[in-house]
Amino acid sequence: VSTVVETDVLIVGSGPAGASAALALSTYGVPNIVVTRYAGLADTPRAHITNQRTMEVLRDLGVEQDVVAQATPQHLMGNTTFCTSLAGEELGRVRSWGNDPLVQAAHELASPTRMCDMPQHLMEPVLVNAAVARGTRLRFETEYLSHSQDADGVTATVRDRLRGDTYEIRAKYLIGADGGRSKVAADAGLPMGGQMGVAGSINIVFEADLTRYTAHRPSTLYWVLAPGATVGGIGAGLVRCVRPWTEWLIVWGYDVTAGAPDLTTEYAEEIVRGLVGDDRIPVTVKSSSAWTVNEMYAERYSNGRVFCAGDAVHRHPPSNGLGSNTSIQDAYNLAWKLKLVLDGTAHPRLLDSYTAERAPVGRQIVTRANQSIRETAPVFEALDGLSPQTPEQLWANIAARKDTGEAAEKQRAALREAIAFKVYEFNAHGVDLNQRYASDAIVPDGTPDPGFARDPELHHQPSSRPGARLPHAWITSGTRTLSTLDTVAQGRFTLLTGIGGEAWVRAAEAQELEIATVVIGPGQEYEDPYGDWARLSEISDAGALLVRPDGFVAFRHASAAPDAGELLADALRRILGPA
Ligand code: FDA
Repeated sequence: VSTVVETDVLIVGSGPAGASAALALSTYGVPNIVVTRYAGLADTPRAHITNQRTMEVLRDLGVEQDVVAQATPQHLMGNTTFCTSLAGEELGRVRSWGNDPLVQAAHELASPTRMCDMPQHLMEPVLVNAAVARGTRLRFETEYLSHSQDADGVTATVRDRLRGDTYEIRAKYLIGADGGRSKVAADAGLPMGGQMGVAGSINIVFEADLTRYTAHRPSTLYWVLAPGATVGGIGAGLVRCVRPWTEWLIVWGYDVTAGAPDLTTEYAEEIVRGLVGDDRIPVTVKSSSAWTVNEMYAERYSNGRVFCAGDAVHRHPPSNGLGSNTSIQDAYNLAWKLKLVLDGTAHPRLLDSYTAERAPVGRQIVTRANQSIRETAPVFEALDGLSPQTPEQLWANIAARKDTGEAAEKQRAALREAIAFKVYEFNAHGVDLNQRYASDAIVPDGTPDPGFARDPELHHQPSSRPGARLPHAWITSGTRTLSTLDTVAQGRFTLLTGIGGEAWVRAAEAQELEIATVVIGPGQEYEDPYGDWARLSEISDAGALLVRPDGFVAFRHASAAPDAGELLADALRRILGPA
């Protein structure tokens, strides 16, 4: 007899997207089940760069410190080094991931969190353990096969890979977080733009003590310009630090039209030897796998009661380190909306804002990551190393930069410039933090959009405009110092105001929906001793910001309003729809 299992939300996949969806839903008290195909979580490092926005999400979900405890800290990610091999010549460095002094200041001003390097095989257990502890029911070795939906829910058929039998799970909503080959997205017919299989890449995970070549120039990524390094792949050979300085992952390209090479241990060892450049160092290859560079994004993230998140809807190379970050942020955007629709607070049309808000972000990061690969070519060009040539010729070209004379000076300048330009991949603070949402879950305040004063990919620009993430400022409550971001989220709406904003507070308290109120000013529950909040809030003391459960500003009113009650109720009606 086959029993139908029931839940509110069925999540397919336990990667960053599925695990964080489960964690957020369980934190909000929404019953959910995760099914995942394999017997365990990610067994290789995969995604690793964890940006400030993701750390803010993890902070809100209560697992920031678990991640910090295991991650490689920001200061050890400080460089991106270009070289001919780890033991070979160094060609230059870019200060990276918030470690340039000016960018570091910008990071400190932008967020209460720090970027870090958290390999995926360590991240997934943190997310999944917390989700399960809060109520998620997780089924390993359970494969999603198909689904059908009707007006009231989704019925998914899954196979228990241990027993070999199939059964049905009935859910009100289905989240497809099943990665770059998503069957859920395909079955839901989500329209995709772009193309898969643009280039071929190989990951080789290995152990080797490379301290002598790395510890003095701590980097997450060491790029190797060597013969063959421009074939396929992600722009050049890459030696990525997994654990300083003994666990590593190499990314090396192959010609996608010729197909992936036979990934024997000997083949992997040969690549490792070439990129490390010192045969005396003992190397243990742990695994190798082939993958392709993709440039694909979904135009729509949902179909009826089926929602997709993560690589299921944006498929791109690891450049800029956006994969797991964007996946976690997708899930965080979706989870609170599902909660409010499931408990009857919001009309299901709130869920339409998921595509409206996240699809443009997905498309942007797919484009950014692929563009970053192309922007590595000028580094080779500066060394006249792009066109087919013998290894001897390439080494001679690289050596030519040490010559005297005008040509060599020009070459040095071109190389410096090409390497410095890679800040768009390795120090793009704006890409991480400047997301602006426009949807029916955001109420514009009618003010003209001032745009970005500086390059929006490189520089973060805080704003309290509806659709922007609430700006971070350090404020105090008694002896406690906390971020403005610590006062919001936690699964509920928050209204922020200041002295003279009593009407807003009364209006918030009068709503049926729970709205936390935060009053900032001298003698209030929260104070702004540095004046940072006053400088960043873009409203007068008696104005108000309504912040959504995901920390984004939904509504803003610049000053006191005698009709605050009506304004707030109207804004909530627009965001949540008719109940
Ligand atoms: P993810 O792929 O992590 O998870 C998909 C989940 O769905 C898995 O749990 C899988 O078992 C499950 N699943 C799939 N089909 C299923 C089915 N039919 N039924 C049940 N479960 C199913 N990024 C980066 O920044 N740097 C890197 O070096 C790498 N390297 C890398 C290597 C390899 C081998 C891969 C596959 C990926 C990377 N990535 C990467 C990309 C990065 O891992 C990716 O962006 C994120 O993991 C995306 O997270 P998701 O949760 O969306 O998918």
